[in-house]
Amino acid sequence: MDPPHRPLPAYYTGLDERRQWVRDIFSRTAGDYDRVERAMAFGSGSWYRRRALVQAGLRAGMTVIDVGVGTGLVAAAAAGIVGDATLVTGVDPSPGMVAAAKVPAGVRLLTGSAEELPLADASADFISMGYALRHVDDLAASFAEFHRVLRPGGRLCVLEITQPGTDWARAALRTYMRRVVPWLAARIGRHRDTPELMRYYWDTIEACVPPEAVLAAVTAAGFAGADRQVDLGIFSAYRAHRPAH
Ligand SMILES: C[S@@+](CC[C@H](N)C(=O)[O-])C[C@H]1O[C@@H](n2cnc3c(N)ncnc32)[C@H](O)[C@@H]1O
Repeated sequence: MDPPHRPLPAYYTGLDERRQWVRDIFSRTAGDYDRVERAMAFGSGSWYRRRALVQAGLRAGMTVIDVGVGTGLVAAAAAGIVGDATLVTGVDPSPGMVAAAKVPAGVRLLTGSAEELPLADASADFISMGYALRHVDDLAASFAEFHRVLRPGGRLCVLEITQPGTDWARAALRTYMRRVVPWLAARIGRHRDTPELMRYYWDTIEACVPPEAVLAAVTAAGFAGADRQVDLGIFSAYRAHRPAH
């Protein structure tokens, strides 16, 4: 097992419980996700998602698998770029998120996880994942699945929030995410567990393995050209491609 962060006992007791806990809290709070995301810009909005996909090589006509589709923010951006929503498939393990997804007509939604994608070998040109990597059970298993499902030459783009490089910026982000965001989530959100999800959100960022470990796991899974583009010190886009031969 190669988890992206150590267990967080404030929320669950161990790795076995973690999987169900994560799926349940995302399911319960799904109705609040877009409202809170918009207010707090913790995924930096549709503009950033779209730009990151284009910069990672997404083009018109490509087939896309969006893993951890959630309410569909990345999948909707991908559908706009490829020009045909039927080319986009979203996958998520939380039934509440899949039910709340607002994707363009034609996007296919499947229940499944990064570690076990319900998709055929070499069936996609592009795999995207937005802010879901911290929630997988196993980085190595997830990247191995992405490699299996991408056709040779296919591209990967994983978006994540990562900690800033300086102590003062880390402290400022911590205060914003740990104090301001849950407080606002309690006012903007409608479900009583939304503030807890937002506390968990920051705790997983803080506990996450460093970007170098993510890039090493991408490369170990057989990808080439792994790199990380950082915007505003915290928005990381991990990009790589499956070698053509
Ligand atoms: C923060 S939301 C991100 C939603 C969307 N991609 C976005 O950009 O806003 C994280 C999503 O990851 C999903 N998730 C949790 N565990 C996962 C796993 N093992 N594999 C794939 N997705 C997972 C959750 O159900 C949730 O919908």
